[in-house]
Amino acid sequence: MLEAQLEELRRTTLARFASAFSQENLEEARVEALGRKGTLAQISKEFGKLPPEQRASLGKLLNSVKQDLESEYEAKKHKFEQEQLAARLEREWLDVTLPAPGVRPGSLHPITQIQAEIEDLFTSLGFAVLDGPEVETEEHNFDALNIPPTHPARDMQDTFWLTNGHLLRTHTSPVQVRGMRALGPPLRMIAPGRVFRNEEVDASHEHTFYQLEGMMVDRNVSVANLIYFMKTLLSGIFHRDVVVRLRPGYFPFVEPGFELDIQCLICGGSGCAVCKQSGWVELMPCGLVHPNVLRSGGIDPDEWSGFAFGLGLTRMAMMRYGIDDIRQMQGGDLRFLTQF
Ligand code: DAH
Repeated sequence: MLEAQLEELRRTTLARFASAFSQENLEEARVEALGRKGTLAQISKEFGKLPPEQRASLGKLLNSVKQDLESEYEAKKHKFEQEQLAARLEREWLDVTLPAPGVRPGSLHPITQIQAEIEDLFTSLGFAVLDGPEVETEEHNFDALNIPPTHPARDMQDTFWLTNGHLLRTHTSPVQVRGMRALGPPLRMIAPGRVFRNEEVDASHEHTFYQLEGMMVDRNVSVANLIYFMKTLLSGIFHRDVVVRLRPGYFPFVEPGFELDIQCLICGGSGCAVCKQSGWVELMPCGLVHPNVLRSGGIDPDEWSGFAFGLGLTRMAMMRYGIDDIRQMQGGDLRFLTQF
């Protein structure tokens, strides 16, 4: 009787294990057959009531059924675990060679790029790259540059005055003064940097923009030297032919002074917002350093002469990349900036 029950249990349970479709399903079958209140436990109870002589042979059967079921259960369980692991590995693999998500490589601002190129160019010609403070004294920004307090040229540069009498530099020219005083003649220097004007902002005016000052002081520096360096500079920057013109220009710190214009690269000379419909863009005022400026830099104008120029870095970048609104340059819009 119990024998038949054991054989039946073995047969049905092995079949249930074999057809188990999930781990839970397998577990249910195990509990029913092998659990504390399962079929095998009930049979064991009956087995305990048997007379000893019957127990020996039946006991063997009982153990073998138990072992069969347990090992089959373990095998099946192992199989489920392997399948689950395989599915998980399939689902959760990582390509560790992929770039991290959400991180984009940065890019240099167009002004920074042009500045770096011009610095390379001039350092290769023996020029030092100098830095000056953005908060300047009136003396460096005006007086030492031959612009005395009553001079009308002060009105040309709408100045942000600070309450302590200092100012935000309106140009990079005060670094000329600092350079002359610090280095003495002969001297070759450039000074890139940020300058400030109290201006109404529109497509071609900003209150904050970038200039690059240049100065060379030596014996017998002439307009010919100036023109040579300016030409070298422009061909280096634009990597192409640009149409230029020289006009006389007035700046208190140079004599003679010039205005170097280039034909507008946005419209090709036909007229647009950047060139104010004129077809020309003032790119580079320059000239021979005024004797008074050399003097205030501690340099004897009878012995030394020099040229100087003030390049509009911001304007230069706009020309080069065809940017027609200066407000883009400091707008911080990544859609704009990542194009360069
Ligand atoms: N500092 C002048 C400005 O910002 C530009 C300038 C003109 C600089 C002539 C120079 C120069 O060095 O020679 O308006």
